[in-house]
Amino acid sequence: MYKIVKAVELAPKIKLFEVYAPQIAEKACPGQFIIVIIDEKGERVPLTIAGYDADKGTITFVFNEVGKTTKQLGLLKEGDFIANITGPLGNPSEIRSFGKVLCVAGGVMIAPMLLQVKALRETGNTVVTVLGARIKELLFFKEEMKALSHRLYVATDDGSEGYQGMDFLKDILAEERFDRCIAMGPVPMLKVVCDLTKPYKIPTIVTLMPIMVDGMGMCGVCRVNVGGQMKFGCVDGPEFDGHLVDFDGLIKRQRMFLPEERLSALLWELGGCGCGGK
Ligand SMILES: Cc1cc2nc3c(=O)[nH]c(=O)nc-3n(C[C@H](O)[C@H](O)[C@H](O)COP(=O)(O)OP(=O)(O)OC[C@H]3O[C@@H](n4cnc5c(N)ncnc54)[C@H](O)[C@@H]3O)c2cc1C
Ligand code: FES
Repeated sequence: MYKIVKAVELAPKIKLFEVYAPQIAEKACPGQFIIVIIDEKGERVPLTIAGYDADKGTITFVFNEVGKTTKQLGLLKEGDFIANITGPLGNPSEIRSFGKVLCVAGGVMIAPMLLQVKALRETGNTVVTVLGARIKELLFFKEEMKALSHRLYVATDDGSEGYQGMDFLKDILAEERFDRCIAMGPVPMLKVVCDLTKPYKIPTIVTLMPIMVDGMGMCGVCRVNVGGQMKFGCVDGPEFDGHLVDFDGLIKRQRMFLPEERLSALLWELGGCGCGGK
């Protein structure tokens, strides 16, 4: 059992949990993820590691309440227990001195990006960060990111704070040379960023979040097409060369179980177990 030592609401439906998991905290690196199982009947939910402290024995993750399991997770409080957490899974991010790095984070993935930005600064990089969200109320970690970045831009889909959309990046990329771009967030945002950096041949690393089951390379559910080759998001990734990713194929696979997911969330909200009668 894994005890939740801190639970904070960062924005509407976005929660941060710090959990006592010393064996994971000891080995975790930026870019890796865990699989959370709430209770003995729980689904496996992959979540990106957003912090770790080997001395305290804790790991931190931030999640968006989008469906049955993440909503159920959101009901847990400080002092509650999670049945199982597996990790760290996936490959650590490549962190070294690249030069000038553009970090673009959208939605809930702002949280793990903070870890990357910190590591990039510690290895001597110049870091320009972009935070994106649908609306201003969903932005978080602005001050923390500002303190770590050489420059920070904010963008929202509706223009309620900062730039409207990611189009402003066109001007920045036309004026400045970047040695690397790292993007984490929703697939449409990753696709836009990759389209913008491609003409400038800026190596662009994206974190992919295909549907996963075991997270260990055995089930094949997380397959993604990268440069015409079939890769497993969990063991080959989760980070890939964004200029080679088939984003349209990824979006299709992510939506594969949408009717079942909606039914499961509805049944759970109505007070059932959310298993869809199975
Ligand atoms: C490597 C990785 C890292 C992730 N990191 C984070 C994170 O840090 N924070 C966060 O909020 N979310 C993260 N996700 C997404 C998160 O796993 C899903 O939002 C969650 O599984 C949804 O479960 P649900 O039952 O609440 O919603 P559901 O209604 O079951 O699903 C909602 C949507 O989430 C996606 N999803 C569903 N099941 C899975 C699954 N088993 N694996 C992956 N995606 C799934 C699908 O696109 C689906 O349409 C990550 C996913 C992956 C693969
Ligand atoms: S989640 Fe099963 S192979 Fe990747």
